[in-house]
Order: sequence, then structure tokens, then C-alpha cells
Amino acid sequence: MNPVVAIVAGARPNFMKIAPVLHAFEQLRPDLSHMVVHTGQHYSHELSDVFFQQLGIRPPDAHLGAGSGTHGQQTARILEGFEDWLLHCEHRPDAVMVAGDVNSTIAAALAASKLGIPVVHLEAGLRSFDRRMPEEINRLATDAISDLLLVSEPSGEANLRHEGVPESRIRYVGNVMIDTLARHLDEARSRDLGRSIPHALVTLHRPSNVDAPATLTSICDFLGELVRRMKVIFPVHPRTQVRLEESGLDGKLSRAGVVLLPPLGYIENLRLMLEATVVLTDSGGIQEETSWLSIPCLTLRDNTERPATVSHGTNQLIGLDFETGLRCVDQILAGMWKKSRPIPGWDGKASFRVVEELARFLNVRECSVTAV
Ligand code: UD1
Repeated sequence: MNPVVAIVAGARPNFMKIAPVLHAFEQLRPDLSHMVVHTGQHYSHELSDVFFQQLGIRPPDAHLGAGSGTHGQQTARILEGFEDWLLHCEHRPDAVMVAGDVNSTIAAALAASKLGIPVVHLEAGLRSFDRRMPEEINRLATDAISDLLLVSEPSGEANLRHEGVPESRIRYVGNVMIDTLARHLDEARSRDLGRSIPHALVTLHRPSNVDAPATLTSICDFLGELVRRMKVIFPVHPRTQVRLEESGLDGKLSRAGVVLLPPLGYIENLRLMLEATVVLTDSGGIQEETSWLSIPCLTLRDNTERPATVSHGTNQLIGLDFETGLRCVDQILAGMWKKSRPIPGWDGKASFRVVEELARFLNVRECSVTAV
């Protein structure tokens, strides 16, 4: 029997990472069986289903229905649900692949490793060195119990070596999110959203930015200043929507002229990103995507676990320093912003390297099918 890999995904940023890996499995290693497990951490159409549809991800083989909750509740539900699935599924997987840094990542990794199933971490080694971020705890803990660490950017390798991880467990594969981006670029370019350009695109959902009313108010004041300079489009994440409504800030933003939208699908978001003069964000993935596209990005965080986007890309960290933010926007509007340089392995082929590494890890002989 051929080895079986279980691929776990649960939240929005996971879906664009697993999509190209699934395509690469089909193209490169049809001899490797794989199953998709959706934890249900994200469940609404706009945070989950639309990504399955647009990115061509096949329906999951299992859905754990974990849903929202506190970190403890959510992580525990996924841990319990995934362990139960592993114990009762038809063919116990030979490896479990988890992606990124969300609660689904650590919960699934923990369930698998306790059952003695090797864990492969896609996007390993990233560190913000800020343990106040739940994602940083998830990264550290997942890497500590993973058997194969697939790294997306140079800092990841350095961090893992610094932590004493043996070389034999580390593989530099590059960035699978860029595979997804490259694959859907033409489709996004041809999508007409009927909106005027140029604009600033805003995405915000980090608890550190949106959960404290004073911080959220100061960000909204900044957006009010920004809208005097250019059109501002703000697709609002559900967490942020609740916080804006609680503080009455949604009305304030609308009155100031900020265009508030519901969360967007992958293609629609990419379309708006491609047309943006500047992107303001606290998302990790968007720092990477704007860098690859060479679109100016200002990150409302004091740190990033993706430093290549600052050293090689278009990203600048502004934290909550909005004077600097407006100065940067003026520089961008004057056409004075850094251009991106290539980052190793951000070449649209990372998912093929992922599958090759997996096959090697599972000790499967070369397959005659080659990537097209
Ligand atoms: C989670 C991840 C974060 C990731 C983000 C992308 C963790 C610790 N956090 O944060 O790293 O960047 O996803 O979106 O894993 N909700 C919906 N529909 C859904 C899911 C959630 O409306 O499908 C609402 C619920 O009210 C929920 C809130 O959004 O309470 C927050 O969702 P949650 O999964 O707890 O965290 P995110 O902020 O989305």
C-alpha cells in the first residue's frame, strides 16, 4: 500500500497554502495518497468555502466542525476531534502535514505526534519573537514537535538552526503562497470589480490592533486622515467587524468616506491588491504577497515573522506610529518607494519541492511523472 499523507487546514490563511500542494500531489506524485482534513476553525462561506471554490481545493475528506471559541476551547476541540479521526479513519496516515501558525496547526500537530505519526510543518521556522502573539506560541510549539520542517524564507532556516534543530529535519522549499498567487494572477487581472483606482487597501484583524477600543480608535483616526489623500477600501474581517460595531467606529469610518466591504474571496482581494497604490495590513500573508507583486506595503505591527518582506520586499513596519505612516504614504504617492528583489524559492514552484521532500521523507521511490 502506498503511503498516505493527511493534510490539515482550518483557517483562511491555510487554504492558499494547501491548494498548490494538493495540485502538486496530483501532477507530480499520483502514487502518494493524500487526504484533506478541515478542522472547521473557520466555517463561514467568506472565510472558508469561497477559498475552496476559487482555489480548486477538493472537498475535504473529513470536517471536524471545531468552530470559534477561546484559544483553549478551539485548540482543545480540534485536538480531540483530530485525534478521534486519526484513531478511527480507514487508513492511519503515514504523515500529517500542518501549515502556518493558526490554532488548527498546533492542535493537529499535537494529536498526531502523541500518536507517533510524523508531523510535517509547512512554513516552519518563522519567528516574530513576540510571545504575546498567539501565532508565535503556535509556531514555536509546532516546530518543536514536527519531524520535517519545510521553510519558506531565509530567516526560517536561521531561526531553526539557532534553536538547535538538527539539519536533517530542515528543508528550504520556498513559499507555497506565491505558487497560489502566480497561478491566479491572470484570473484576478481579468476580474472587473467596477471600482475606481488608485486606492489604499486596508486589512486588519490582529487582536493587538482590533481588540482594544483605544487602539482601534487611533487606527480609525489614521484611516480618516488617509482618506483625505486617496480612496480607502477596507474589507472587514469578522473579528474586526464586531469590534468596530461595539465602538460605533464603523459609522465613523463610513461617514469619513472609507469604503467598508465584507471579507473578500481570494480573487477579488488579489484584484484590489493589484490595483492598490499602497496596502496597509497586519496580515502575514499580505506582507508576502505585496512584496512579490512589488506593491508598497505598510504593516501596522512592531515586528514581523517574515523579515524578508522588509529586507527584500516592499514592506515597512510602522506599528501604530501614524505620523510615520502618513509620511510613508506621501513618499509612495510621490513614487519614491523601494522595489522588491527576488527571494529564494518564491518562484511559483515551492509546492513541487514540498511534495518531493515529502516523498523523500516517506522513503518513496522516484515516480516517473514530472511536473508540467
Ligand atoms: C485566525 C488565526 C489568525 C489568522 C486569522 C485569519 C489563530 C490563533 N488565529 O484568527 O492567525 O491570521 O484566523 O483570519 O488561529 N468568525 C466568523 N466566521 C468564521 C470564523 C470566525 O465569523 O468562519 C468570527 C467569529 O466571531 C470568531 C472571530 O471571527 O470569534 C475570530 O475568529 P478566530 O478563528 O477565533 O480568529 P481569527 O481572528 O480569525
